Amino acid sequence: MRIIVEKDYHAMSKKAALMVASQITLKPDSNLGLATGGTPLAMYDKLIEMYREDEVDFSEIQSFNLDEYCGLEADHPNSYHYYMNDNFFNDINIKRKNIHIPNGGAEDFEKECRDYEESIKNARGIDLQILGIGSNGHIGFNEPAENLNVATEVVDLTEETIEANSRYFDSKDEVPKKAISMGMATILKADRIILLASGKEKAEAIKRTVSGKISTQVPASLLQTHPQITILLDQEAASLINKDELSADCHFEICK
Ligand code: F6R
Repeated sequence: MRIIVEKDYHAMSKKAALMVASQITLKPDSNLGLATGGTPLAMYDKLIEMYREDEVDFSEIQSFNLDEYCGLEADHPNSYHYYMNDNFFNDINIKRKNIHIPNGGAEDFEKECRDYEESIKNARGIDLQILGIGSNGHIGFNEPAENLNVATEVVDLTEETIEANSRYFDSKDEVPKKAISMGMATILKADRIILLASGKEKAEAIKRTVSGKISTQVPASLLQTHPQITILLDQEAASLINKDELSADCHFEICK
């Protein structure tokens, strides 16, 4: 595990964008796993800026989003389809046919999950997966639980996640209670993973992700088993990490 602590959210987002761009330079037809939420917004902005400056070309990439709310059609302003178009895809040259996001308006969610998993497999897997983290340690919508899903499944959102995400809706009652999410194995099968976290409200979840035992109660802690994981943080999100509690093979770097 490699942990990089940047000065602030802006520096963290810039580093993430540079890592995504270098993945695409090395492999122009990369399959990218993408996240929504507040955290990756500045990374997407930086990637758009780099695209405008001709520093990165998205024409051959395929994208696979982590999740989508059940019951929200693609054109719903709170759907993750809408978020991705509005914050990223409309401003870059990705081909529409290469965009994959679970369909929250599907008639048969079980089938949608199977088809989504199949589409990742058919594309030969994800080269680089971007993740955010919930303050309860969730990744995708894999919420803390005794058992975690292996593959893409319909999941129940926890009260904490509904509360956290209600900031994007008119009221908490409007937040869907279910979502389609990639499972833990879907995520862990990616060749490389970058987890982004910013702000002190993520500090406890990050501490429990990078040190201590792996637990399904902190889904992100399973990332400790991944051979190519980078955790990119700002100083606040890193504030509770105790270097002495990290495993011996963990690389810890603080950028000035
Ligand atoms: C989003 C996703 C979630 C978020 C997490 C953090 O596609 O899968 O796991 O990454 O809830 O959200 P923010 O960045 O809004 O704090």
